[in-house]
Amino acid sequence: MERILVIGANGQIGNELVDALVAQHGADNVIAADIGPRSLFGARRYEPVDVLDSNAVAHCIENYGVTQVYQLAALLSVTGEQVPLKAWTLNMNGLLNILEIARERGQSGKPLRVFWPSSIAAFGPHTPAVDTPQLAVMDPTTIYGISKQAGERLCEYYFSKFGVDVRSIRYPGIISYKSPPGGGTTDYAIAIFHAAQRGETYPCYLGPETTLPMIYMPDAIRATIELMDAPAERVRIRSAYNVAGLSFNPRELAQKIKQYLPQFGISYEPDSRQTIADSWPHSLDDTYARADWGWHARIGLEQLVLDMLANIKAPRCELHQAA
Ligand SMILES: NC(=O)c1ccc[n+]([C@@H]2O[C@H](COP(=O)([O-])OP(=O)(O)OC[C@H]3O[C@@H](n4cnc5c(N)ncnc54)[C@H](O)[C@@H]3O)[C@@H](O)[C@H]2O)c1
Repeated sequence: MERILVIGANGQIGNELVDALVAQHGADNVIAADIGPRSLFGARRYEPVDVLDSNAVAHCIENYGVTQVYQLAALLSVTGEQVPLKAWTLNMNGLLNILEIARERGQSGKPLRVFWPSSIAAFGPHTPAVDTPQLAVMDPTTIYGISKQAGERLCEYYFSKFGVDVRSIRYPGIISYKSPPGGGTTDYAIAIFHAAQRGETYPCYLGPETTLPMIYMPDAIRATIELMDAPAERVRIRSAYNVAGLSFNPRELAQKIKQYLPQFGISYEPDSRQTIADSWPHSLDDTYARADWGWHARIGLEQLVLDMLANIKAPRCELHQAA
C-alpha cells in the first residue's frame, strides 16, 4: 500500500493531482500539503508544510509512513523573473530537501519514490526548436529554467550516486480550468478561454505565430501517474522525460475558439514574456517516454477547446456548433 504526500497541493497541478491520487489510492492514503491554508480539493488529509523546512517535511513523511512524494512547490517562469533569488532558493532547496530525505530513508530501509517536475523552460535558444530531442543542448535563459536544468542534474545524481528512485517530466505548458495558472509564460492559453467566455477581446501578450508545446491537464496527470507507477527498471531517464501533448500558437488557438464563439476577438500585444517564449521549443520528441513507459497523448486541440469552453461557464455566450 502506498502513502502519498503531495507538496504544493493547492496549485494548478497539485489540486487535480490530489483528486486523481485519491481516486486511485483512497483519501486516507493521500496527504495534501502546501505552505498556504487548505484550498479546494478532495483530500481528507491536509498538512500545512513549508518545503524549505526540511525537519517539518521529514516529520510529516515519518508520521504518515509516506512512500511517495510529489514535490510541486516552485516559483514559475514569469513570477520567478520578478524575484530571481527567491525562485532559485525555493526551486533548488525544495528539491534538495526531498532528495536528501529520500537518500536518508533509503539508507534506513524506508525507500521513498520521488516525483519532481521539470519544464520545457530547461531548454534555451540554442536547443533545436522543432521536435526537440530528449538529449539536446540546454541553455535556459530564465532563473526558472536554470533551476529546472540544475534540478534535472540533481535528480540524475541522486539516482546514480545514492539509488534514490526519482522520476521527472519536462512538462509543456499545462492547460486547465479548475484552478488558476501559477504565473508561467503559457498562461495565455488559459486566460484566452476566460476572456472568450466573457465576450471580451483577448489582448495576447505573445505574438500570433508563437508556437509552444502544451498539454491538457488530464493528459498531464495521466503522464505523471503512469511514470510513477512504471516499474523502476523501465525508467531509464532519471533527469526528466520529454512528454509531448500538442503544439499550437495563439492564432491557431483563437481560430479554433472562433469556430465555437464566432464573435471572439484577439489582439496581439507582446511583452517581456515573448522573449521567454522565443527561447523555448515549438514541439517535443517524446520517443523515450513512449518506449520506456508507454506514453502517448490522447487529447488534441479540438477536444481541448470544446472541454475548456464547456467547463468555463459562459455568462452570456452560447456555444455554436462548429462546421
Ligand atoms: N503549470 C504548468 O504549466 C507547468 C509547466 C511546467 C512545469 N510546471 C511545474 O509543476 C510544478 C507545479 O506547478 P503549478 O503550475 O501547479 O504551480 P502553482 O504556482 O500553481 O503551485 C505551486 C504551489 O506551491 C506552493 N508553495 C509555494 N512555496 C511553497 C513552500 N515553500 N512550501 C510548500 N508549498 C509551497 C504554492 O502555495 C502553490 O500552491 C512546479 O514545479 C512547476 O515548475 C508547471
